Formats: sequence, structure tokens, C-alpha cells
Amino acid sequence: MSNIPIIILKEGTEEIQENRARKQNINAMIAITELVKSTLGPKGMSKMLVDSLGDCTITNDGAEILKGLDIENVAANMMVNVAKSIDEDIGDGTTSAVIFSAKLLENALELIDQSIHPKPITHGYKLAADKALEIIKKIAVKISTDDDVILKNAAKTAMNSKNIGGLKDFFADLTLKAVKHIMDDDGNTFSKVGNIKIVKASGKSLKESELINGVYIEKEKLNSGMPDVVKNAKIAVIRRKLDVVKTEFDAQIQISSPADIQGFLDQEEKILRDYLKIFKDLGISMVVNSQDISDKFSAFLAKEGIAAIKNLGDSDMKAVMKAIGAKRVDNIASLSETDLGFAETVKFEKIGDNNYTLFSGCKNPKSVSILLKGGLDKILDTVEITLNDVLSVIAKTIDTKTVVAGGGAVYMELAKRLKTYSNEISGKAQLAITSFALALEEIPKTLIKNAGLEEIEKMTELRAAHKTDEDKWMGIDTITNTIGNNFEKGIVEPAELVNHIIKAGSELANLILRVDRIISAKGSGMPGM
Ligand SMILES: Nc1ncnc2c1ncn2[C@@H]1O[C@H](COP(=O)(O)OP(=O)(O)O)[C@@H](O)[C@H]1O
Ligand SMILES: [Mg+2]
Repeated sequence: MSNIPIIILKEGTEEIQENRARKQNINAMIAITELVKSTLGPKGMSKMLVDSLGDCTITNDGAEILKGLDIENVAANMMVNVAKSIDEDIGDGTTSAVIFSAKLLENALELIDQSIHPKPITHGYKLAADKALEIIKKIAVKISTDDDVILKNAAKTAMNSKNIGGLKDFFADLTLKAVKHIMDDDGNTFSKVGNIKIVKASGKSLKESELINGVYIEKEKLNSGMPDVVKNAKIAVIRRKLDVVKTEFDAQIQISSPADIQGFLDQEEKILRDYLKIFKDLGISMVVNSQDISDKFSAFLAKEGIAAIKNLGDSDMKAVMKAIGAKRVDNIASLSETDLGFAETVKFEKIGDNNYTLFSGCKNPKSVSILLKGGLDKILDTVEITLNDVLSVIAKTIDTKTVVAGGGAVYMELAKRLKTYSNEISGKAQLAITSFALALEEIPKTLIKNAGLEEIEKMTELRAAHKTDEDKWMGIDTITNTIGNNFEKGIVEPAELVNHIIKAGSELANLILRVDRIISAKGSGMPGM
């Protein structure tokens, strides 16, 4: 072997090695965390976000803040992505996940500074994460899907950190009812939360918001002669341009003389009349089309007392079909009774500034809408985001049927048990497990700090409160500023939320710790710069 160095990087490539690489990544991640840390919990502060167009949003939702950031550091971006994935998988817990993973990394840096190699640290973190999940499984409380008090408590806990005024109970009730409507025995309620449509109507008070057994589609009737309300509607759902240029009868139209024009018009009229006859024969009183309907045909329908809406998008089509139990038909000549859907009432109404078609009393009662009424548009937008989170949390709780106590309780108990567990592990991994436990405590610590309470004093009290296994739910309530049994106080969250925070947080930390080199292509800009 020769001693000539082999150059494998192109000129201009920058390379950062070993601990300097780690430090740079971790510091960027800590910087991002600082941005959202003060939003955690009921006493979290809001942030004002100003986008590149100067539009301003005020929010205390960690996920919203992170989504709005334009981050250059790759590692910090990975953290934002973990937060986003938690938001998608659970609908809540973003800020906690970010705080936890950043603290894991900060603690790892301290160990590295004490000349401990990252290998035993990542090993210890993995052991601790597995153990933590095992402990959660053991201590979490099993519930059933009709434990409405606990389900509502989970909803209210998720709302504690949101600006929803005095309407927590009201919305807990409303959202639980909505989720129960779409609940499925197959344990997949979470994936169906999208079936709950939130429709915003400005102008009234939030307290007048209501659950509507049906589906709202933002469409207006095509012709003013059509009825405003259709009772016992027999509904055809079609995907067919209701015009005459191209017909399903494949008519060839050639025009060469004025007489032909009359012929063509007759032909056009005939085709439209054929369509109309099919609808009339089947007793159809409402037509829903994903494609266009000409003005002429709309007038024909109106004359027969048939209502119609057109140009529906995919998700609206799906929502309608599901609600009314209809099959979509492309070829109108093949339309039959079994394809049709049913709704007790189809109503066209204006809510706020928008026109809606409401299908209610449907074949499938699993389609519901939350009609959100309230003052300013910005407030409605915020409430909509909150309710979406809450719906997800309730659905997740229903699907997984296990809850733990929030307000730091579950993290204090995990930390305590992990410290005991670390004694069983020899070598440097033991130190890592202790660091992991301390990173879990960062969540209650932040809740305390954000409530303006004395951090060291309250943390000492909390640790002391976890004496026996019976004390597992001792936590802090930062609304009343008291330490007590948070399960009994109704501060509960789905165990799955905590599982996710632990899994995602520790995986991200380990991934970053394994990076020992940052190689950036020329011009990409070094990370963190
Ligand atoms: N009354 C309360 N007292 C203290 N902590 C609470 C209370 N209600 C909720 N929490 C806690 O607030 C945390 C969630 O805060 P939040 O700002 O929503 O962040 P995340 O984005 O992590 O959901 C959870 O740990 C939850 O247990
Ligand atoms: Mg939350």
C-alpha cells in the first residue's frame, strides 16, 4: 500500500468531523427547541408568526410554529419532521417530542464532553426507550369506549393548552359525540376522523356551534328555479359531462345547411331529453356531478323540480357517496335504482359568505359535520385547528383504549423507574439511562417554568410525591398550580401519545448521535450557518 492520500471529495467540499459535527447539529436543534419551549402546556406563551407576505398569525401551537419555519440546518429540519410526523400520527404532542429529543441530545453532549463515546450512549438510550415503553404498558389505565368521562377528560386535557376560552366542556362534548358517530369496531376510528367535516360560519357565537348529522358541501344549486329543499331525496351521483358536444349515444353531427342546424338543435334537445327521461323514470330528485352541467340542462332539470350541483372535487364526491350510500356512475344509460343514494333532506343554504349544500338524514349516519359558528375568521381558523387535534386525540384514545395522567405525571413516574432500572445496567450505558430519565423530566420542568413557578422547588416536590407505585399519577396542575393525583383531576392523555414521543424522540437523538461527519457539497452552505 502506498502512502499517497486518496482524494475522494471534490474540491470545495467542506467536511466537518467528529464531535464538532455533532455539536453543530445539536446546537441548531436546541435553538429550534427554544423557540417552542415556552409554548408548552396551559400557561404556554403565544408566538406571533409573520410570513413572507407580512400576514400575521398568533399561535401557541408548537406544530404550527414549526411548520412555519424556514430552517436551513439539516438536523434541525429532521427534528421539525419528527414533530410533523407526530402531528400526523397522533394529532398532538409536537412540542413535547421536540423538547424531549433536544434534551436527550443536550445530555448526550455532556457525556461526550466527559470523553464517553457515542456508542454506549446510543445503546443506553435504546435500552431506556424500550424499558420506558414496557413501563407505560404496565402502568397505563385500560378504558372502554363508553368511558365517556375519561374520553372527555382526554379531550379537555388536549384543549388545556389552547385558546378556547370557557368552552372546553362544550367542545369536549361536541367532539366526543362527533367521534362516536364515526366510531368503528375495527379499531380504526383515527383514520376516519377526516369524515368529520368542520364547516366554518362567521358572525355568530362559538357557543352556537353544533353537530350536524350530515355532510356539508360548499356548492350552490345550479339554477334558481331548483327547489331550496328536497325532501326524501333520491340522489344520482355521476361523473359525466351533462352537455351535448360529446354524448354517450355517440351521435355524429354534421352540419352543412341551415336545415341541418335545426336538425342539430333538435338532436341536442333530444339527447338532453333522453338524459332527463332516465332521471325522471328513476324518480331522481337530486343530481350530484363531478363534471360540468350546461346551463341549458340545468334549466331542464329545474323545470322538472330536480336539484343539482356540479364540479365536485374528489374528497367532496367521496364524502357525499359515503353519506348517502350512492355509487358513482359514468354512463347515464346504465343508471339503475341500486346506484342511487338517499337523504331525508337536501338543503341549499348560505352560511356566512359561502353557499352550501347540506345532505342530512342520510343512509349512513356515520357522516357528521361540525358547524363552527363564531366571530372573527382568524378565531375560527384557530378553533378549527384545535378541534382537529382534539378529534384525533379522542379517536386515538378510543382505538388504543389506554390512558396515562398528564401534567408531567407519567414522565416523573417513568424517570423514577428508569433510574432504578439503570442500576441493573453496567458500564457507560448506565449513565445514558440516567440522562434519558432526566430528559423525560424536562417536560414537567418546562410546564412548571412556563407557569412561572419555582422550578427546583416544584421538581423536588414532584419527585418526593412519587414514593410508591400508588403515586404514579402525581403531577402538576398548572391551571390551579397544585401538585396532586392528576388522573383524579381528569388530566389524562392517550398512552399512545407518550409512546410516540418516546419512540420518535429517542430514535431521532440516536440518529443524530451516530453522525460523525457532515459533508456538504460546494455551495450548499454548511449546516447551521
Ligand atoms: N392542567 C394542566 N396542568 C399541567 N399540565 C397540563 C395540564 N393540561 C395539560 N397539560 C400538559 O400540557 C402538555 C401539552 O402541552 P401542549 O402545549 O399542548 O404541547 P404538545 O405540542 O406537546 O401537545 C402535556 O404534557 C399535558 O399533559
Ligand atoms: Mg397539545
